Amino acid sequence: MINKYVPVITIDGPSASGKGTICKIVSKILGWNILSSGLIYRSFAFFLKKNKIETCVYQNYDLLIKYLNIFIYRGLFFYFLKDSNILNQIYTSEIGNIASRLSVHYLVRKLLLPYHYFFKIPPGLVADGRDMGTVVFPDANIKIFIDSNINIRVKRRMLQLQKNNIYVSFSRLKYVMKDRDNRDCNRFHAPLFCSSDMFAIDSTLLSVEQVIDNVMQYVYKKLY
Ligand code: DC
Repeated sequence: MINKYVPVITIDGPSASGKGTICKIVSKILGWNILSSGLIYRSFAFFLKKNKIETCVYQNYDLLIKYLNIFIYRGLFFYFLKDSNILNQIYTSEIGNIASRLSVHYLVRKLLLPYHYFFKIPPGLVADGRDMGTVVFPDANIKIFIDSNINIRVKRRMLQLQKNNIYVSFSRLKYVMKDRDNRDCNRFHAPLFCSSDMFAIDSTLLSVEQVIDNVMQYVYKKLY
């Protein structure tokens, strides 16, 4: 299933670091495929919420894996991907938080891992997430880590939410985002961190164009 000769660029970082936007633009410039790996965890979270499965199940490992197997055997990930109505509902902070809580479990990560490789098809892949360069594509040609100051990330997320007519206070959002960052960075399996082979970018004081300039210079230097 894994095509070894397809080049991969990984972009890891915390929520609202801008990695999703950068991933989209880089994949467009290169004409490569894109994987926003959070979507895989979010789809499973959406499935649980849609089926009104109580949040206490997230701690009941056996039951959680039973539901994950149902999700997988029904091919729901690919079904969700095709439905733009569902995609809109998947990109909410509630689903993001559920996804973060589910993704701490080893078997959840292991059973969802093969889905990442469906996206690794010619001419190349740009993948963003938390463990793209460390666990999923450890042999990636280029590994990038994007981070920025928490206050800037909260402001960015607030603006995104406001565009969808969702209004939350700065302090509440900061609390929720810090909680998610802590969980994603401190979990035992596949935590988010900047490994020594990653090109680290602090986007706090940079515009999207400046980040893209940095990334593309690095990409062209490494690839060609
Ligand atoms: O990138 P995102 O906000 O769509 O991700 C939602 C959650 O999914 C994130 O908080 C943790 C989990 N996730 C993960 O554990 N590993 C990834 N590679 C991507 C996302």
